[in-house]
Amino acid sequence: MTAHDFDTVIDRRQVPTSKWDRYPDGVLAMWVADMDFPVAEPIAAALRDRLEHPVFGYGGPGPATLRDVIASDMQDLYGWSISPADVVFLPGVVPGFNQALKAVTQPGDRLVVETPVYPPILAAASNWDLARVDVPLRPVADGSSVNLDRLTDALGDAAAFLLCNPHNPTGRTRTRAELETIANACLASGAVIISDEIHCDIVYGSSKHVPIAALSPEVARRTVTLMAASKTYNIAGLKTAYAIIPDADLRRRFIGANLGMSEGANVLGLVATEAALRYGRSWKQALLSYLKANRDHLVTRLGQEIPEIRINAPEATYLAWLDCSALDLGDAYRFFLDKAKVAFNPGPSFGSDDQHVRLNFGCPRALLDDGIDRMVRALSQR
Ligand SMILES: Cc1ncc(COP(=O)(O)O)c(C=O)c1O
Repeated sequence: MTAHDFDTVIDRRQVPTSKWDRYPDGVLAMWVADMDFPVAEPIAAALRDRLEHPVFGYGGPGPATLRDVIASDMQDLYGWSISPADVVFLPGVVPGFNQALKAVTQPGDRLVVETPVYPPILAAASNWDLARVDVPLRPVADGSSVNLDRLTDALGDAAAFLLCNPHNPTGRTRTRAELETIANACLASGAVIISDEIHCDIVYGSSKHVPIAALSPEVARRTVTLMAASKTYNIAGLKTAYAIIPDADLRRRFIGANLGMSEGANVLGLVATEAALRYGRSWKQALLSYLKANRDHLVTRLGQEIPEIRINAPEATYLAWLDCSALDLGDAYRFFLDKAKVAFNPGPSFGSDDQHVRLNFGCPRALLDDGIDRMVRALSQR
């Protein structure tokens, strides 16, 4: 197997995994957002090297070398100037946005989210007794778009906005102009921006990721940005992410809201993250080409073989949001699970309806084809 082999199908049921353990043998797992690819060789090498050292005690606030590479990546990739001290390491992005909400809100405050959205974002308001204000994305011919009017209205009296960009499940990236409007509304109302940018590296074609905090120092002062190498490099099980919080007071409040629940990151995850950011770029480029080809293959095959399914080629992420309403399947997730033996994520878990499912195409092409074949077969046997 070469370092850039994305075609080999690996039997993941040999080790415990969320993705493959949830459903019985015979069901193809195309749900939770991790990929079925082996880790990049530089990451494996760095982990092997670290394992040579026999002590695995607490890792402290995280290595200065990793802070430096994060800061230089922000400059390099987004023209965003941050200081290494702005970085706070965390066991995950989900703990990160919950900690941020605890830091900047009081029970009863209003939290704005856009729907449909990643389930833990949907759930976050109730964790902290906040009033959730849903702003549905606007359906447009080529997908879904930010509903700027409703969003700016909702942000008017909100304590915080939990942004997901790139967006899970639609795979949309927000344009600079959209982000500027959102940021201006937050600056006007005083809402804190908590920006989940975990998918920021997986962006295709001419689309570009813009961290909302990179718009201006003024926006950065009101923003907690959450990132990780975990989606791009498929190391989510190593439980390591980071917040970037340039404002010292906001950072202090964020750290103070930890309350013993999400202290520090995993020592192996920190090693893997640094190896990914330092030495993983060529693997990442190869991954992006493979994923883009998977995306195009999926869109083409569904267009030809199940044209009733509405799908917009995602600009980012390895997730596709399928609108199955024209098929009249009842509960689309149930239909595909029971009749096709393919497990997707159900639309209602994102705050949508049961006519939508989310498909994960971060897998070898053979598995993707198997999934589409199963769908086609189940539909033809109805
Ligand atoms: C938008 C988004 N945020 C966060 C996560 C998970 O983050 P973590 O595992 O670092 O808590 C995911 C995983 O799918 C995601 O899609």
